[in-house]
Amino acid sequence: MTNLLRIPGMIDPHVHMRDLEWAHKATFASETAAALAGGYWMVMDMPNTPPVTTTRPAVEQKRAAMQAQAVCDWGFYIGASQDGNEAEYPYIAPLACGLKIYNNATTGTLLIEDQAVRERHYQAWPHGKPIAVHAEDETVDEILALVRQYRKHTHFCHISTQYEIETLRAAKAEGLPISVGVTPHHLYLVEDDIKHLGTLGHMKPTLKRPADRDALWAGIADGVVDVVESDHAPHTLEEKQSSKPPYGVPGLETTLPLMGLAVHEKRITVERLIDLLALNAQRIWRLTPDAATYTLVELESPDLIERSRLRSRCGWSPFEGMKVYGKVREVWIRGTQVYDGEAILVAQGFGRNGMIRDGE
Ligand code: NCD
Ligand code: ZN
Ligand code: ZN
Repeated sequence: MTNLLRIPGMIDPHVHMRDLEWAHKATFASETAAALAGGYWMVMDMPNTPPVTTTRPAVEQKRAAMQAQAVCDWGFYIGASQDGNEAEYPYIAPLACGLKIYNNATTGTLLIEDQAVRERHYQAWPHGKPIAVHAEDETVDEILALVRQYRKHTHFCHISTQYEIETLRAAKAEGLPISVGVTPHHLYLVEDDIKHLGTLGHMKPTLKRPADRDALWAGIADGVVDVVESDHAPHTLEEKQSSKPPYGVPGLETTLPLMGLAVHEKRITVERLIDLLALNAQRIWRLTPDAATYTLVELESPDLIERSRLRSRCGWSPFEGMKVYGKVREVWIRGTQVYDGEAILVAQGFGRNGMIRDGE
């Protein structure tokens, strides 16, 4: 009998499940199934997929589609728009898991480079739900100025450089209400890997130097990093291999096994893995999973990342061929077994909006 590790309520607070106008890339049905295969209880969807999640009708459309299709629990972010959608916040914020502000260019049309516009969103967003930011390099300092002023919890997504980690370490020491996410691709890949990955290694933030990667691991060791988030951003192989490849890589099914590899290599403890993939996100997003919501994972035996075994519709991974540790055996949500290591055991629509508590 192998030893199974029990992880309570795994959360990926940073996924792009596509669907709607980008259903050719992936759907809520396909990607929530990939989430279960990756061990997750709940995934939080980003707002940059068209139609962008900035208005009440767009929120209603996304919510209805997720409600109909999801096999795991879910949340979604509101996108801050350049033209100003703050007046909508009183209606749409209660349904969402947070606000997302894109402060540097990436996939999609949401981008705010004007600090005064960013400030209006900081002012309007209600206290209690995080503001997640895509902020690279010196943009991190610009966002910290807003955190200092408005004291609203800010989650720094996919931090990728030594400068950013050191800046955020100091900001935490200052007592600012912030949290930090890093991705498995920035922990395991560096810019040199583009040589063999080609455009499959293109994402935002870009892959960095070994010194930056080492700084991320140091941040994991000393607690500056709160969350390992996949930034699951599927695009079709055809799109990635085209002359204008879009930024983004999938990650829902490879994040837990890659962190299992980190345990195997003694970079982190099992307790730290549980913090990074479950408990810290529960604290930041103020979520308390049902006691019968958990994942059983086998950490001891090696496994290979192979294209043919991935459920995500895009059907590729930048980690193909890697030997990893962390085979998901069972996932339970609210007392129902939803995944048995092979098959999804519930129908589409089983998943709920995890941000809406019973009775609300
Ligand atoms: C993301 C996407 O494709 O939606 N791309 C990426 O390279 N990570 C957007 C983002 O998170 O910046
Ligand atoms: Zn981003
Ligand atoms: Zn992203």
